[in-house]
Amino acid sequence: KLSGTTTIIVLGASGDLAKKKTYPALFGLYRNGFLPEGTSIIGYSRTKLNSTEFHARITGHMKILNDEIKNQLSEFLKLCTYVSGQYDKDEDYQKLDKAVEKAESLNIHEERNRVFYMALPPSVFVPVAKGLKKNVYSKKGINRLIVEKPFGMDLESSRELGRALAPLWKEEETYRIDHYLGKEMVKNLLIIRFANVFFGAIWNRQSIANVQITFKEKIGTEGRGGYFDEFGIIRDVMQNHLLQILSIFAMERPLSLSAEDVRDEKVRVLRCIPPVKLEDSILGQYTRSEDDDSKIGYLEDKTVPSGSTCPTFAACTLWVNNERWEGVPFILKCGKALNEQKTEIRVQFQDVPGNVFKDAPRNELVIRVQPNEAVYMKMTNKLPGLSMDTVISELDLSYNRRFSDLKIPDAYEALILDVLKGDHSNFVRDDELDAAWKIFTPLLHKIDNEKIAPQPYAYGTRGPPGIEEFVSKYGFKRPTQE
Ligand code: BG6
Repeated sequence: KLSGTTTIIVLGASGDLAKKKTYPALFGLYRNGFLPEGTSIIGYSRTKLNSTEFHARITGHMKILNDEIKNQLSEFLKLCTYVSGQYDKDEDYQKLDKAVEKAESLNIHEERNRVFYMALPPSVFVPVAKGLKKNVYSKKGINRLIVEKPFGMDLESSRELGRALAPLWKEEETYRIDHYLGKEMVKNLLIIRFANVFFGAIWNRQSIANVQITFKEKIGTEGRGGYFDEFGIIRDVMQNHLLQILSIFAMERPLSLSAEDVRDEKVRVLRCIPPVKLEDSILGQYTRSEDDDSKIGYLEDKTVPSGSTCPTFAACTLWVNNERWEGVPFILKCGKALNEQKTEIRVQFQDVPGNVFKDAPRNELVIRVQPNEAVYMKMTNKLPGLSMDTVISELDLSYNRRFSDLKIPDAYEALILDVLKGDHSNFVRDDELDAAWKIFTPLLHKIDNEKIAPQPYAYGTRGPPGIEEFVSKYGFKRPTQE
């Protein structure tokens, strides 16, 4: 844990990420008493703002449900100050350093720790990391740097970024955020797998037929088209969030729960996955909604370059070539402007061998990451009554029933707290990032260079029409009962 005085410096404080995620998470930690005593929070970005304007900006996304929270918020805002400056000027960083020193001088502690949160576009990662190291780095305490994706565009650019940052910030000082690693259900995966004897026994190619990891969003790229078009859905969601889920799902038991032991196993399993092939993929791009015509298509978004072939939907099948998983398809699917908002892992088990019943559909285990966290198992049960008829039923652990009195923390709150504690378990290590890019880079280059045309799908539907056929090609059987 950090002892001494802590200052959290948010770079890009007037931007979208800071306003939607970073500050609300810091406020959540403050309300629950998780910020170290005497913490100050200093925002820094280019926009000139006075403190009233800055406070108005960062409170827009906070949920103020009652007077108690309102009062806590006004106390919290007293900790939050703002400095404006450029990202490439030493003298501006020195101004920031002065502001940090001033905040630190309010405390008596000798030890002065600084946590830097870069809520910034990738184009300024390097100049900011340099400017901070040179001018604002604490010489009297611990320094930690939080970085958010995108970490490059492909393997080469990610390595280049790594090479630029490594001489400035040590790996142990760097915290690469993938906010899915802070989600309750993603953290639960380790426990489900390694603290339950019955899952341990069936977690392999002998019992599991296929695994689908799905991310669906109802909204399109509204207003974010410029950013999104450069990256596409594979870089935005699949190469990071979904692959992180896969690696925890598929890894071997770590030697211990230490950050390095856990990440060693994640890297090891990623290295068993060969690069994804275009033949194992399906790409889509949304068009105008069909029923009411109210939602515009991707190409009609003014922030999107005309004629773009950028995918807003992708499904890719990955193979894990090791003793445990050989032959089991891991189908990753993600898309914007779909029929619902949902992230889940769906494990489909093999057919019942030597089945003697009329009907014994495949068992499924579903881990629903969001919304409404749940773990449920689809099993065949006797239909109550005088016959021996069967019915698909659920063993259902829905969090809103089982844990109704517990609050599920926001992913960013959980992760910032980990940084304060110095726990790297839920952050992406440099070799992990490298292994993740190796899996997707050849496919991404092919898509970009050959301008592979995505299949159109209407806003608000289940994705491109070929998706059902795609998943059944990999052996997924929709469990139906006569
Ligand atoms: C971000 C992506 O990393 O994750 C967004 O850039 C996406 O495009 C978001 O909407 C989804 O996060 P969550 O927590 O809302 O599922």
